Amino acid sequence: MKNLLELYQTRASVRRFKPEPLRPGDLEKLLLAAQRAPTDATAQMYTLLRITDRELRDRIAQLSDNPHIAYAAEFFLVLADVYRLRRMLEFRGGVWGYWPRTAAHFAIADAVLAGSALATMAESLGYGICWIGGVLNHIEAIGELCGLPEGVFPVAGLCVGVPDEAPAPRPRLRRELVVHENRYRAYRPEELEAAYVDMRPITRSGDWYRVLSRYFAAGGTMERREPPYQRYVARAGFDPDLPAEPLKRLQAEGIEAGSLGELIEGALAQGWGAVRLQPGSAWLEPEPGGTPRGEDRPGEVLAQALLKAPKPHGL
Ligand SMILES: Cc1cc2nc3c(=O)[nH]c(=O)nc-3n(C[C@H](O)[C@H](O)[C@H](O)COP(=O)(O)O)c2cc1C
Repeated sequence: MKNLLELYQTRASVRRFKPEPLRPGDLEKLLLAAQRAPTDATAQMYTLLRITDRELRDRIAQLSDNPHIAYAAEFFLVLADVYRLRRMLEFRGGVWGYWPRTAAHFAIADAVLAGSALATMAESLGYGICWIGGVLNHIEAIGELCGLPEGVFPVAGLCVGVPDEAPAPRPRLRRELVVHENRYRAYRPEELEAAYVDMRPITRSGDWYRVLSRYFAAGGTMERREPPYQRYVARAGFDPDLPAEPLKRLQAEGIEAGSLGELIEGALAQGWGAVRLQPGSAWLEPEPGGTPRGEDRPGEVLAQALLKAPKPHGL
């Protein structure tokens, strides 16, 4: 077993795995580490979904555009999860509070800490690991395949297996860029220039800017992931303006929304001339009599209005 200092000095993500299972007893150690991780208020707002079904694993590998998912000895979907917590509370007669964004915040934190403890334990036992953000490429399809309930969404995947490669440690930004003291500080142009030089070894082209652009610039991977992610997380109940239940019903009617703005656009795209909101009510116009159609937060009333409104052919 590696000591932690050596592990962090040498570790690197692994993407080629030998077709071998973990050694007997090691899975137990990984899961123990995950469960011993700290969690907010000991609420354990995460679930590890261990994917053992061959077909399901292959499908997730395909949907995530990460073939190594299929070859690792173990693959987990690391889930942010307040579903179980809510069940616990309601089981004893409690009324679930309204804290959607805070729930997402702490559920992601719990999920990442549990996954990270599992990953570190795996690496200390000599296994290779690779986190998979690619599960966000088709989050809706993966959520559906895995039967995730409301209150649950994938944060990332995590591969663990016997390594079939030994990559050198990959570079990092200089310490002073990522560790600040007392007050967040501005970055000098020459520090930014130096960062591009420091990170060059992880690129094929020799230019880190090309990598950053591909992922994070306008038209990049992250921008493509955003709409389905917003919609998924909203339907899972984590958007403060959009109640999950009517959103799911609207989806069945062909209206998708991951933000209140998108819901309004959805209403207008149906042919309604205007959406009027005032505290506690929403109107879709034109419509006979202009009756208020719902009572609650704007997303709730607008969703209600859309559900109750006559179908757009009459407009
Ligand atoms: C949240 C997260 C998502 C990631 N997603 C992917 C992924 O989809 N596919 C992949 O091959 N590696 C993925 N990685 C691995 C990173 O690319 C890797 O950690 C990074 O390049 C640094 O390399 P190192 O871990 O070898 O130091 C991910 C890592 C994290 C933490």
